[in-house]
Amino acid sequence: MLEPVDFGAAAGAPSAVMRRWQGNGIYFGGDYNPEQWPEETWSEDVELMRRAGVNLVSVGIFSWALLEPAPGRFEFGWLDRVLDLLHDGGIQVDLATATASPPPWLARAHPEMLPRRADGAILWPGGRQAYCPSSPVFRERSLELVRAVAGRYAEHPAVVMWHVSNELGCHNAHCYCDVSAEAFRGWLRERYGDLDRLNDAWGTAFWSQHYGDWAEINPPRTVTAFANPTQQLDFLRFSSDELRAQLRAEREVLKTLVRQPITTNFMIGMGVKHMDYQSWADDVDLVSNDHYLTAADPQAHLGLSFAADHTRGVAGGDPWLLMEHSTSAVQWQPRNVAKLPGQLRRNSLAHVARGADGVLFFQWRASRAGAEKFHSALVPHAGPDTKVFREVCQLGADLKALAEIRGSRVDADVAILFDWEAWWAVELDSHPSVDITYADRVNALYGALWRAGVTADIVHPSADLSGYRLVLAPTLFLVRDADADALRRFVEAGGTAAVTYFSGIVDPDDHIRLGGYPGAFRDLLGVRTEEFFPLREGERVRLDDGSTADVWTEWLHADDAEVLASYTDGPLPGVPALTRRPVGAGAAWYVGTRLDEPATDRLVARLLDEAGVRPAAPAPTGVEVVRRRDGERSWLFAINHTDAEVRLPAHGDELLTGARCAGELTLPAGEVAVVREDRT
Ligand code: GAL
Repeated sequence: MLEPVDFGAAAGAPSAVMRRWQGNGIYFGGDYNPEQWPEETWSEDVELMRRAGVNLVSVGIFSWALLEPAPGRFEFGWLDRVLDLLHDGGIQVDLATATASPPPWLARAHPEMLPRRADGAILWPGGRQAYCPSSPVFRERSLELVRAVAGRYAEHPAVVMWHVSNELGCHNAHCYCDVSAEAFRGWLRERYGDLDRLNDAWGTAFWSQHYGDWAEINPPRTVTAFANPTQQLDFLRFSSDELRAQLRAEREVLKTLVRQPITTNFMIGMGVKHMDYQSWADDVDLVSNDHYLTAADPQAHLGLSFAADHTRGVAGGDPWLLMEHSTSAVQWQPRNVAKLPGQLRRNSLAHVARGADGVLFFQWRASRAGAEKFHSALVPHAGPDTKVFREVCQLGADLKALAEIRGSRVDADVAILFDWEAWWAVELDSHPSVDITYADRVNALYGALWRAGVTADIVHPSADLSGYRLVLAPTLFLVRDADADALRRFVEAGGTAAVTYFSGIVDPDDHIRLGGYPGAFRDLLGVRTEEFFPLREGERVRLDDGSTADVWTEWLHADDAEVLASYTDGPLPGVPALTRRPVGAGAAWYVGTRLDEPATDRLVARLLDEAGVRPAAPAPTGVEVVRRRDGERSWLFAINHTDAEVRLPAHGDELLTGARCAGELTLPAGEVAVVREDRT
């Protein structure tokens, strides 16, 4: 059984919270929805949890309709019994505020709280999250529920953490109703103060859009032609802030009643675009994240690693919690591919390698009814005598063996800059090519680093860059002056930076930076582009270093930079495509086209070489290597995604098997090893 947790008088910074976790292991468990089952099942649940080594479950996430079956009438009896049972079994609880999905009676009494799409269509109850994030009714009723739940369970000995709502904005990130319109106007007044400033920022001299009264402004509802881009960008900012306001409001209430740390599950790394989680990170005591593999992607484990590295970046490098992933298939993709034997272990431990101090799943027991009945769980429909449950038990044992790594941090000499605002802005309409997406170059550079065995932190451009050797800025279309300046200072101080095309183009108002592209980075890179030459669909160009590229070329002058490669064909033969400029003690590279994968790998290899960055361990392609460190101590994670046994150099004790590595680690196909490295 785990020791009770004492989180002290107040939850503090994320690392402080994770470090105060006094249990004797890494968190392991998942969403537990006992309300879907008869009470007789509950004791078997606890018994199986103990057998698997589960030590933390999230309870009550979608329980509002059962906890408050009628306005103001609360029924806590069943939850009392569940929490007591879990506590008696030594299982700790991450208790939800239960506000994730409002009960049907609330929408019936207040239909004005239902969200509306841009075309005015109402999104009705019957799914989940059917509420407008700006609705005062929803806010008031949800906070009453938080007060009731927190008031009742603040001192319950099983509760070690609070779980605000669930995946805020997963289904209702943008609401265009009249209530939202009014809230949007309020947000704009705060941002701009007066209409002149708004008219200037939105460039309303264009197309007769000038506003003379705040009441004339609406969310970017369905329009005749292209909607004003800055209006769209501000609406995305506003919408993220409105959801964040719900998190903050619930947190404020919790803070007056409870002492345990507070989190909410983010959805970093699955293409979830609408919430600027970097700006939310200060509103949680520890960062937690949900991640699901994209079944259609044969390289889905790269997506997983990226999500984990990005979550760690949002957490400022501190340990974080994987709140949800799946033991096998999900039910919401077109073809829900099941995990092969061993994949669950590789997936879960890859998150741990990349900084997770806990791995939880959706969900404990597979539902027998409802939209998620074909979603995998820790206990499948077929029961515990299954591949999945056996692997769950194995994972429980693995995590126990890894207890000592808790609180350690991940080594990374490379940073990739990532900004939700740049993502929003670069994917607005009316741009030079629909083939430019934010994820494209981010993933391309990340993939090249992954294949090279090099761990990267995915961080906001305003992060402290001084600890890195190499910083990559893919498609940083929108950038603030201060952040562009920080990259310059990083290079001057000896760092290597690489910027890819369509970066530095606009300021935070989405106004072009004049004088030649890539505006904000022009001086640093020593290049000036006078015109873009996007390519036709499927068109490819060749470079004089043998590389091929597609999607994008530009008429670039390398006025103050060395030319490393130029086009040999396409619209711009002889024009530079890849440049490098020595700056202070470092160097700044520019990549003006969309290099194919081998060329991107070669480019990244050169950058790593110049920056003096080495992989965590020399490993064959397809073997993931990551190092966690705590002061003098370090652990090397090796995950073999290939079909062959591999060998890598390692000195120390392998924690999952107890074997000694005297110079070499032998890792069978599909296996994972964690070596506590000898101190040299
Ligand atoms: C998450 C959600 C869970 C469950 C899961 C299924 O988005 O938080 O409640 O729906 O997906 O994969």
